[in-house]
Formats: sequence, C-alpha cells, structure tokens
Amino acid sequence: MKEKKQEKLPTIGYKGTRDFFPEDMRIRQFMFSVMRGVVESYGYEEYDGPMLESLDLYRAKTGEEIVGKQLYNFVDKGGREVAMRPEMTPTLARMVASRQRELPRPIRWFSFPNLWRYEQPGLGRLREHWQLNVDIFGVDGYEAEVEILKLASDILFAFGADKTMFRIRISHRKILDGFFENSLKLDPSKAQEVSKILDKKNKISREEYIKEVEKTIPGDPTALGKIDEFLSCSINSISDIDGIPMEIIEETRNLLSQLEKLGLKELIEFDPSIVRGFDYYTGFVYEIFDVSPQNKRSLYGGGRYDNLTGLFSNESISGTGFGMGDVTLKNFLEAHNLLPNLGRENVVCIPLLDERYLSEVFQVADLIRKNGIACEVFLNSKQKLGKQITTAEKKGMKYILLMGDDEIQKGIYSFKNLEERTQVDIPKQELISSIQKELRI
Ligand code: HAM
Repeated sequence: MKEKKQEKLPTIGYKGTRDFFPEDMRIRQFMFSVMRGVVESYGYEEYDGPMLESLDLYRAKTGEEIVGKQLYNFVDKGGREVAMRPEMTPTLARMVASRQRELPRPIRWFSFPNLWRYEQPGLGRLREHWQLNVDIFGVDGYEAEVEILKLASDILFAFGADKTMFRIRISHRKILDGFFENSLKLDPSKAQEVSKILDKKNKISREEYIKEVEKTIPGDPTALGKIDEFLSCSINSISDIDGIPMEIIEETRNLLSQLEKLGLKELIEFDPSIVRGFDYYTGFVYEIFDVSPQNKRSLYGGGRYDNLTGLFSNESISGTGFGMGDVTLKNFLEAHNLLPNLGRENVVCIPLLDERYLSEVFQVADLIRKNGIACEVFLNSKQKLGKQITTAEKKGMKYILLMGDDEIQKGIYSFKNLEERTQVDIPKQELISSIQKELRI
C-alpha cells in the first residue's frame, strides 16, 4: 500500500514572534552593545529575572489594557496562575524589594528582557519584543528624571542621531489627576477610560475622538472643551486649569529647565496628553518619539512609581525609569539611515583545497584568530575553488586566503580581495601584519 504523504509543518513561526537570522542577530547585537555602552558609562548594573511570574504580580498594577487583553497566562500543573512577562517593572520592583535594606542607594539597574504581549502585530508592535529597561531607585526628587532623560537621549546620540530626529514629551500623573478630579469633576471610576481616549487621541480621527468623549462622559456639554483646553496647555498656561497643584507645576518647570541647561531644549516638550497606561505611575511620565511620520509608536516610555515596591514590603522606595523597545528602535535607525553596514567582510575565509592540507590550514586559521581576526575555514575539499569563492561571496565575505599546492610548498600564500578583484602574495612569516594591512585594522 502506498504510504500517505505527511503534511509539512509551516516554516513561519507563531504570529508576532521573531526569527532572528544571522543578519538580524547582527543588528540586534549591535543595538544592544551601543545601549549597554551608554548605560554602563552612567554606572548602571545589569540584572535579569524570570520569563514567568505569578499572575498576581501584574494584576496588581500593570493596568487593564495589558492584563485584560494582552497577557499570555496559563494555569501550571500545580494549579498556579502564571503569566509570561509583558513588562519588566514588576519583576524589578519585586527584586529590589527583596534586598531593599542592603542595597546602597541610589540603585541603578538595567536589563534587556524579552517580553510578551498578545497584540495585533503591526508597524512598531509585535507579540514578542526586547526592551532595554533602565531604572533608578532611591532618589525622590526630579534629579533622577534629569539623569534618566539625559541618558535616554544619549543612547540615541550614540547611534548617531541628532536633535532634529526625536522628541521627549513629559507630563506628570498628578497634573492629569488634578484635572480629572477638580476641573472635569470626573467620577474616579471613569478616569481610566478617559485616560485611554487621551492616549489614543492622535491615532484616531477628530470625529471618533468626539464620539468617544461624549460616550464616556455623557450629559456634560463642557467636557470636550475642557479636555481640548487642557491638552493644548503649555507649562506656563497649565496653572490656569483648576485644581492642578502648584508644587507639581513648579517641579515640572525645574525638570524642564535643568534639561534645557544640559543642551536638550530643542528636544523636550511639556505635553499633558502623555498618559501612560500603567497604574503604578505616580509622578513624572515621559515618552520619546521619532519625528518621522511613519513611526508613530513611542520609542521609549517610562515614569516614576513611588510605591511599587510597597506591594512586597512595608517600606517603599521610589523608582523612575523607562523601557525602550528593539522594534521601534530599529524602525527609527532605518528611517534616519543610522544602521551601519554590519556585514561579514572582515571574516577571512580559507577554502580547503585538499584534505591533506587540513592541519596546515587549521594552524594558519588559529594563528589568524589568535591575532583577533575572525577566520572561517571551508571544509568541503571536494568542491572546486570557483564554487568555494562563490559561496564566500554569498556569505558576504570579502577576503580569501589561498593555500593550495604551490602556496604551501613555497610558504607564500595568496590573499584575495573579492570586492576589489585584487590579489597579493604574502610570505608565511608576514601573514598577520599583511592581513592587518589589507583589512585596514
Ligand atoms: P511601555 O510603554 O509599555 O512601558 O513600553 C516601553 C517601550 O517598549 C515602548 O515605547 C516601545 O518601544 C516598546 N514596546 C512596548 N510594547 C511593544 C510591542 N508590543 N512591540 C514592540 N515594542 C513594544 C513599559 O513596559 C514600562 N514597564 C517601562 C518602564 C520601565 N517604566 C518604568 N520603568
């Protein structure tokens, strides 16, 4: 009987997840290494935590949008409710709380977690992403935000960005709360819904926006006008709105003026529409945006949380920080032409022309590697040289070291530059210095 043909599985992974092929991995590693360089230069130390946490950790304060709609959660074999982390901040707060007494302050920590959210995948949004998290604990004043926002800009400058390419928008949770409570006289149960409308205001049409406001705050014909006025406020006119605490306006002014003094004036904006969907924020909230119109999603999002560690211990310690996603960062770098060529041209290739030469080829490859130059040996000695050269080109390699009969006998190797179609003869004893010269390193 004829065997039934087995159906093949798809080569495409689960929707919204990421396959990093070597060329993608090079970009990811490049981005991480630039970010790491900047955060470490500010004295931040790396930490990490588990991919799985108890669901309760997010139920407490991560916010309705993520917990209700985007969480990947399940019940484990022991009947415990578990979630894959959608963000790092609750894990961070848990870890800090567990050592709160012994950690010298300020605590400056960073991490590169892989995060999971059940989102509708689109430009700048996937179900799996990596996020640089940078947080500082134990500084109650705005000085911490000065450092955090300066550091956040320095990361983009380190990629070669300039001040025309991004904007930092800042607000304060207590400004929004004061407006809701005293000016809009909003029932506290409605605050979250109205915040959500403000958050998406720029992503929907004016008609849709008006409809949503009227539906959420029915029977108040003044609501729309009040919200419009609030959203158009500058830091100077915000004091005209009823019920915004003066000391918060003053603190926001101080933050803006310190950032101006650090040369960031063109980048920063007070923007009362910055809402941030997490329940734990209690103070400054901030987002960084790409100015290019195609990248509407924020590059970074963050804020101050005064009592998140209070979920785990009686003592709470104030933290502030941000998350910066790898998806939006890559879009930003591409939009502004800031991704360098991350090819493999500096990997030297040695084709194996006969299996008898294997040990000699390996010894030479070792010598090259020990001198800090990457070297790949092609192991298929049955393949013709021409074919091996084509493979090297396909792999993005530029340099070939030829070790055939003649070369090995004479102790003089040929070094080919495939791009420029040139070739030089290199005596064995000058191998390294000559390769360094050819590679211009
Ligand atoms: P968040 O605003 O949810 O904040 O995320 C921060 C950044 O992560 C966003 O600006 C975006 O770049 C990226 N991001 C978020 N979701 C996705 C997604 N589905 N696909 C691709 N990129 C995404 C937080 O997560 C806070 N825990 C950040 C924080 C740290 N707050 C204080 N410390």
